[in-house]
Amino acid sequence: MDLCDEATSARRAATSEIAAAKTLDELEAARVKYLGRKGLLTLLLRNLGKVGPEERKEAGRLLNEVKQEILSLVAGREDSLKQAAYSSSLASESLDVTLPGRRGAIGRVHPTLAVMDELVDIFVGMGFTPVEGPEIETEYNNFDALNFPAGHPSRDEHDSFYVGEGYVLRTHTSPAQIRVMQAQQPPVRVVVPGRCHRRDTPDASHVVSFHQIEGLFVDYDVSMADLKGTLAAFAREFFGPETRVRFRPHYFPFTEPSAELDISCLVCGGKGCRVCKNSGWLEVLGCGMVHPNVFDHVGYDRASLTGFAFGMGVDRVAMLRYGINDMRLLYDNDLRFLDQF
Ligand code: PHE
Repeated sequence: MDLCDEATSARRAATSEIAAAKTLDELEAARVKYLGRKGLLTLLLRNLGKVGPEERKEAGRLLNEVKQEILSLVAGREDSLKQAAYSSSLASESLDVTLPGRRGAIGRVHPTLAVMDELVDIFVGMGFTPVEGPEIETEYNNFDALNFPAGHPSRDEHDSFYVGEGYVLRTHTSPAQIRVMQAQQPPVRVVVPGRCHRRDTPDASHVVSFHQIEGLFVDYDVSMADLKGTLAAFAREFFGPETRVRFRPHYFPFTEPSAELDISCLVCGGKGCRVCKNSGWLEVLGCGMVHPNVFDHVGYDRASLTGFAFGMGVDRVAMLRYGINDMRLLYDNDLRFLDQF
């Protein structure tokens, strides 16, 4: 076969291989096969010296023509492969700027604390000042100063968490009454939101750590009517304008007389249903007139001063507000539950 024939067949083979290259690597392989240092066309060009002058002229022209043609076919194919790669990356990486953004997860206020905030706001609206007390309390503030007799069952180690000699995790927010009265002279009008701890066995209405809000009002002629009026106004504001209240006699060592406040059932309005156990009433808080012995403990004049106090279970109230039937749900930290509020 002479050089011209070989050049022609190389042209045909190269043209179809370049057109068939599907990647830049395949294209480069084809280029090397014909134009590389040991490429077919390179070898043919090298053979030019071995043929006669007539053939050399003719074959030289043809070989150079084929070489240029292959170069330009490779360049053309390279362009279209790159263009195709670019288009497909545009398609796969494209960004739809009209899609709505994805919102990050935002935390929210726990239902118990949301209720706590609302309760504080209502009492602030009535002129009470919010203050706080420590969760680790002296046994004296938690019990003695509040007129708990030495043998009172709640002082028992089985009912309270003692923290070393003379200290206890407060079992109620009432010891804050003592701190406030020791720190200031009357008139006193405060609310104390906070966490309390008791050694209760957890069940649907008891957990070991829970929340209360305490109220204390001391002045020169505070009466039980003021207490009832204040709590009735609170109940209408928090539970709704139809809400009725009643006092039920009760006992607390640090108030005399003492009462529990019931509100008309939120579910049946007082007719009697499962939630109120057919009584028509729901228990909301404990309250009463400050016991003169408590005034003695803080150095207030028992002869001229009177006052009222109340203490409300915030978790209980949150359950009533949201229709929650098990207090432990508030403490499980299960987002499927908490996300509903
Ligand atoms: N501290 C009482 C309790 O935890 C509630 C209470 C507070 C009662 C203030 C009377 C006055 O049960």
